[in-house]
Amino acid sequence: MTFEEARALFPVLERVAYLNAGTFGPLAEPTRRALAEQAHRDAGEGRAGKPYFDELLELRTGLRTAIAGLLATSPERVALTSSTTDGCNIVLAGLGLQPDDEIVTTDAEHFGLAGPVFASGATVRVAGVQQRGPDEILEAVLEEVTPRTRLLAVSHVYWTTGVVLDVHALEQRTAVPILVDGAQSVGAIPVDVGALDFYTVSGQKWLCGPDSTGALYVADPDSLRVARPSYFAQESFEPGGRFVPRPGAQRFDSGWIPMGSLRGLGAALGVAPDWRFERIAEIAGVCREKLAASVEVVTPPGQAGLVTFRPHGDAAEVAARLFERGVVVRDLPRTPWLRASCGWWTSDEDVRRLVAGL
Ligand SMILES: Cc1ncc(COP(=O)(O)O)c(C=O)c1O
Repeated sequence: MTFEEARALFPVLERVAYLNAGTFGPLAEPTRRALAEQAHRDAGEGRAGKPYFDELLELRTGLRTAIAGLLATSPERVALTSSTTDGCNIVLAGLGLQPDDEIVTTDAEHFGLAGPVFASGATVRVAGVQQRGPDEILEAVLEEVTPRTRLLAVSHVYWTTGVVLDVHALEQRTAVPILVDGAQSVGAIPVDVGALDFYTVSGQKWLCGPDSTGALYVADPDSLRVARPSYFAQESFEPGGRFVPRPGAQRFDSGWIPMGSLRGLGAALGVAPDWRFERIAEIAGVCREKLAASVEVVTPPGQAGLVTFRPHGDAAEVAARLFERGVVVRDLPRTPWLRASCGWWTSDEDVRRLVAGL
């Protein structure tokens, strides 16, 4: 697939400099079609019958395998969820931590991770990292580790500064289990879960999937309690008797995902070209450089697809003005910053429109 063919997949790019994958990726035409055709089928034929359910289960298996491929792991270690937040909740609830237990996290986490961490009942130690670079974040997190630390909870790519944390180095320097928020990494940079313990996936961002799709990698499914069982958790259940969880991470599947969304995410994964990570790195570099000529750029060079910068004037007002001009970026709450998401579909012209719009 050429770059021009890739761009032509996304109708929104005809009009808009869509720099928004950190929130929602653009929907490709095959993804839209998969969603629409399934809705049509569901309405016309009904959501019923054994073939329907067999098909649904087959789609789940296919998607689990495809996502395992994205994480360089096996399908037995992948649960299908509705989001990163969902995945974080599954892990935190399953660990059953107590006030004597400690979790180390940072003050730059998204609420999708921070919410489940703070609701866990454990004592939370927060490393102050705000505008720090990758190495400083690593050291700041390690400084908070004590003999009581039961979990490290960090992002692979920071949603504010766009900084990539070396989560593997972090894992190697402690014996503590690590939960990685992969919302801004999967689909934006190559991911290999390696020796990490838990890793979340958001389907709707860099993977360009439908809303409310995602996954959770669990290295050792037997060691995490099934705290929030869905229908898919059961290998067997005798009413009034015992519940036996399914083998592998399937037991953490968080519930029914609409057939259209399963097909839509499958279609989205299918259109992503081999060269996607190289192109993201290249265009994020171009974006950084062009912005740096007129504004202060927050994101250091050589990170992922997010480029954060400080515009002249109020960030929310600038974002609204850009939106009216067909340039989609977002302002970051409690900061004076804007964030542009550069995807494999982003052109130099999109970046030019952003810079001109400022
Ligand atoms: C770093 C990070 N974590 C978590 C989330 C929440 O993702 P989800 O909606 O998949 O739960 C986001 C969304 O913006 C994010 O940027």
